[in-house]
Amino acid sequence: MAFFGKSKKTDEKSDISQIILPAHVGIIMDGNGRWAKKRGLPRKAGHREGAKTFRTITRYCSDIGIKYLTVYAFSTENWKRPEDEVGALMRLFKSYLEEALSDFKDDDIVVRFIGDKSGFSPELQALMTENEESSASRDGMVLNIAMNYGSRDEIVRAVKNISADVRDGKLDAEKIDSDLISGYLYTAGQPDPDLIIRPSGEYRISNFMLWQAAYTEFVIMNKLWPDFTTDDMDEALRIYAQRNRRYGGV
Ligand code: IPE
Ligand code: IPE
Ligand code: MG
Repeated sequence: MAFFGKSKKTDEKSDISQIILPAHVGIIMDGNGRWAKKRGLPRKAGHREGAKTFRTITRYCSDIGIKYLTVYAFSTENWKRPEDEVGALMRLFKSYLEEALSDFKDDDIVVRFIGDKSGFSPELQALMTENEESSASRDGMVLNIAMNYGSRDEIVRAVKNISADVRDGKLDAEKIDSDLISGYLYTAGQPDPDLIIRPSGEYRISNFMLWQAAYTEFVIMNKLWPDFTTDDMDEALRIYAQRNRRYGGV
């Protein structure tokens, strides 16, 4: 059976068009450092390769009709890495925000950033805002780039904003329910992720979409992110399509 088998890319594309696709896919883009280490290269070389994979996979998701893609690019905890690695990542983000993201124009992709932008340099913040504003009127896939994102941080921020609205009389505390809380998160107005893919073989969530992932399907792939291909994406989507989602029912 060809279901999990490798077929030519063009065939796979048509296969993929036959299966039920998740509306919202999250990807924890992990394994760049190990990819570089395996090759005796500095970790930043892995981040450069990972950025290329990000571009390829984003385009692919848009091509096959995914409606929302959320990629985890930099966590609130990643600041604790050595200064030269953080510096290399910031330079990479800058060049991507300047060049590559404008490429997404042809794909009609709406670019959004989730996370605390204020942690970045004014230059990076301006580039993020510029990308969001220039892509807002497009009507293709929504790409959320999680940068300086931590789900606990996101929930703390939501709780503070909810409290402030209650205090200011804008919100009745009795009206707080799970939909209202979702509406105070960075992903307000978007569906929860149906599928989260973690390459690099790690079995953990690392502070990614804790609230939103209540009923998300997880697929862990044994591939480092720079090695992740469109075939791997197809495989994750096929695994997802076979899952039986019950949401606590029978
Ligand atoms: C993911 O790759 C990129 C970021 C977290 C910024 P890693 O840098 O975590 O790579 P590994 O997990 O050390 O291999
Ligand atoms: C999660 O990966 C964050 C991103 C991919 C941006 P990490 O490499 O930071 O997570 P841990 O440390 O393995 O949990
Ligand atoms: Mg990692």
